[in-house]
Formats: sequence, C-alpha cells, structure tokens
Amino acid sequence: MNLIMGDGEVSSSELLQAQELVWNCSLSFIKPMSLKCAIDLGIPDIIHNHGQPITLSNLISSLPIHPSKAHFIHRLMRILVHFGFFSTQPQEEKKEEETYSLTLASRLLLKDGPFRAATFFLVQLNPLLLTPWHFLSTWFQKGEDDPTPFEMVNGMNFWDFVGDDPMVKHMFTEAMANDSRIMSKVVVEEGKEVFEGLSSLVDVGGGTGIMAKAIVKAFPNIKCTVLDLPYVVADLKGTHNLNFIEGDMFKKIPSANAVLLKWILHDWSDEEAVTILKKCREAIWSKDKGGKVILIDMVIDENPKLEKKSAETQLCFDMLMMVDLTGKERNKKEWENIFLAAGFSHYKITPIVGLRSLIEVYP
Ligand SMILES: C[S@@+](CC[C@H](N)C(=O)[O-])C[C@H]1O[C@@H](n2cnc3c(N)ncnc32)[C@H](O)[C@@H]1O
Repeated sequence: MNLIMGDGEVSSSELLQAQELVWNCSLSFIKPMSLKCAIDLGIPDIIHNHGQPITLSNLISSLPIHPSKAHFIHRLMRILVHFGFFSTQPQEEKKEEETYSLTLASRLLLKDGPFRAATFFLVQLNPLLLTPWHFLSTWFQKGEDDPTPFEMVNGMNFWDFVGDDPMVKHMFTEAMANDSRIMSKVVVEEGKEVFEGLSSLVDVGGGTGIMAKAIVKAFPNIKCTVLDLPYVVADLKGTHNLNFIEGDMFKKIPSANAVLLKWILHDWSDEEAVTILKKCREAIWSKDKGGKVILIDMVIDENPKLEKKSAETQLCFDMLMMVDLTGKERNKKEWENIFLAAGFSHYKITPIVGLRSLIEVYP
C-alpha cells in the first residue's frame, strides 16, 4: 500500500526505512556509551590478562560488579561483539559456554598496551566536551562574539580551558599522546622518505613529544625540538637530540631544516592557519637548502580508496573542529589556498594508511 506524504507517494517499506534511519541515528550514542562501560569495568584488560578466550562466567567473576547485575553482562558483550570490539568463538557443543577474545580495536584500549588509546576515546564522551553540542543551534543563531560553541558554553577558548585545570590538561595531553603512539609507528614506517636527509626539525604543537621521540629514534641524525604552550612542556626533559621549548607558534618558531605540524592546522581557521604557516616559512631553511613544512592532517575526499565509514569519520572530525575550535578539515583546494596565501610555492600530498595524509609544503 502506498501512503501519501507531501507531494508524492511513498511505500510502506520506504516509510519504515526512513524511520529506521531516524532510529539508528538517535540510538547511535549507545555504541560509544556501551564501550565506555566496558572500559570503565576493565573488560579489555581482564580478557587480555586471562591469556586465552574467556568464558562469560569467568569474565563475570572477574568483574567489579554487584552479583545482581551479573546476568546483564552477556547483553553488553553481545552488542560490543556486534560492533567489532570483541569476538566470540563458536561453541563446539551446545553445553559449552561462549568465549570472548579481544579484537585489534579493543587491544588499542589496553591500559598497559603499546598504544593505550582509551583516553582519546573517553575524552570525546566527557560532559565538558559533550555539553557544547547541546547548544550548537543556539550558537548558529547568535552573533560573532562567540567563535565556537565551546567558548560560548565555557566562557573561554579550548586551549585556555585545557591549561586552566590540571585534570583536563592531563586528560587532553594524554589523549593526544594516544594518537601519536599509533601515528608515529605509521609515519616512521610509511613516510621514511619525507624525513630522510633532514638534520633538524621543530615539531610545532608537538605536545609531550611522543612523535618527536619516534622520529629521533628512527632518524638519529635529526635534532628535534618540540615547541608547545608552557603548560604542556614546562616539566618535560629532553635528551641529546630532543629538546622541549615553551612558545607560541603565532609569535615565533625557532629556525630549522623543517617544521612538523601534526594535527595542528585543522584546529585553526584559514586566517589563523595562514599566520602559523607564515611563521613556519620564516623558520625553515631556504628552498635550495631543503627547507620544508611537513603536515600530518586530513585531506577530505583525497584518498580514492576511502570507504563510506572513513568519509563519515572525516566529516565528524570536521564538525568536532567547528564545535570545539575555530578549525576545519580541508579538501585539496582549501589546503592549496592557504599554502599559497602563506607564500609557499608548491606542495606534495602523500596519502598514508587511514584517514590522514602526509603533506610536504615547499617555499
Ligand atoms: C591537536 S593537539 C596536537 C598535538 C600533537 N601535535 C599530536 O598530534 O599529538 C594541538 C597542540 O597544539 C598546541 N598549541 C595550541 N596553541 C598553541 C600555540 N599558540 N603555540 C604552540 N602550541 C600550541 C596544544 O597545546 C597541543 O599540544
């Protein structure tokens, strides 16, 4: 049977599909919230420490939960298996209990694992970062006094907010370090030729130096300087080929063969990004001496192999930049515009595995 809606007719199945899309969207918060619960209860670490696939009853007996809640756990595990965070092994006999194992995604979340990526995940769900989303439409309706919904709600910009509270500072710098642990492995393996031959590098906004440490380890001839805000680097100690300096990238960047901007320019508007790039241009060596700026950032639509889910993740990051910061994710043309506006002559984009690209920008 066809139903009349507006100008045209829709079938019952189209109507139900549309309802499913709305339902799916409204319930999509359940995915991260279920995973957060599993992390809070320590489920990935319990499975890991068990050393082999764990039965539901063994898992339950290891969990810090009230006995009256034990029978709910299989429902939490069922949805997390469905989302790909855990896997189940088929029961060989009906009587045998189902067992659970980690997938690569839940391995990333282990507290003492090599990547320790849980903080980045949990930060996104923190009420401090979720509240501005409830006021996004209000922000659209207001004038220019509030550059971001985050600032409108919290009364100060993101970076001042992070620096204002030691707990938030720890959470944010650790979340960034989570990403750098993963990206440093990828970049050092896949982006070798980008760093080869360099003698000095400033990692601008380099946080606690995870990326810089990986670079000097892989390329011992590079002397690396990490420049970041005083509250990020004040207590950090360098080594013979790595040093930390407090500074403001809008004011001065020390001179070097090359400058690295990992996940920096997407935080800033085009005007701000051009100012930072001009400071980078002043800092790097001349064209004939091999000066360049190296960016690690997303290029929207650039990677032809990008799947629908990856494109969705890029667009979500773009919205995140709009709500918390003045930044944006850029397509190739938008990148080119800001490179040229900052006085650079050409650039090269190398898509690396995943959502981001290595971009070399030349004077
Ligand atoms: C998105 S984080 C990226 C950190 C690091 N590059 C990474 O990818 O893990 C942005 C960094 O820029 C730093 N930052 C913000 N404003 C800055 C400024 N004016 N001068 C120098 N660093 C700044 C922040 O403290 C933070 O460490």
